[in-house]
Amino acid sequence: MAASSRMFQPLPAHPVITAAAQAPATVVDVAGGNGELLGRILTAHPHLRGVLLERPHAVEAARSLLDAAGCGARCEYRTGDFADVPRGGDVYVLSRVLHDWDDDRCREILRHCARAMPVHADLLVVERLLPANGSPSLATAWDLHMLCNVGGRERRADHYARLLTDAGLQLIGHSPLPLDAHVLHARRAGDQ
Ligand SMILES: C[S@@+](CC[C@H](N)C(=O)[O-])C[C@H]1O[C@@H](n2cnc3c(N)ncnc32)[C@H](O)[C@@H]1O
Repeated sequence: MAASSRMFQPLPAHPVITAAAQAPATVVDVAGGNGELLGRILTAHPHLRGVLLERPHAVEAARSLLDAAGCGARCEYRTGDFADVPRGGDVYVLSRVLHDWDDDRCREILRHCARAMPVHADLLVVERLLPANGSPSLATAWDLHMLCNVGGRERRADHYARLLTDAGLQLIGHSPLPLDAHVLHARRAGDQ
């Protein structure tokens, strides 16, 4: 089983997803990679539709995976850049994207999400969080890896909270996932 499979396992049962799934609603996966997470969410919730935004090479891989998972008919694909985050979704997902980038680019990506999000929409950010108390975590090793290999980094929850605030969003809370990952829940600031 791929590491991402374990990390993603609890996400279809996240309260934001289960609440959205009570009615027809759209989950927008920004830089959704091969579609594994979106496929899990759509498979668990037959009322949900998905939109996956990715670079051209990744969109084709995602289309194959989501077709094979039997949810291709409920999914739209957008080829583009972070500036092309589709408007009008109910839940936005940003999984393992921000750790690829420095703070300035993260603010930019989050602003694109905030601009696209309707007032009622939720944003779920999946990342490993550096522990506030220095306790052992896989996030520490990943921090070094991201810094050396892609110029990104892992961050503490309060660091993500600041980036979200700078982008016009507000951190509502976060909960743990397998493999020292977390899911952070944010909404547009001032819209609660
Ligand atoms: C680490 S992967 C995460 C993929 C997926 N969200 C996951 O959790 O498995 C980061 C993704 O960002 C996408 N990406 C990189 N630059 C992008 C850009 N400018 N616009 C949209 N997506 C981009 C890459 O194609 C890649 O699939």
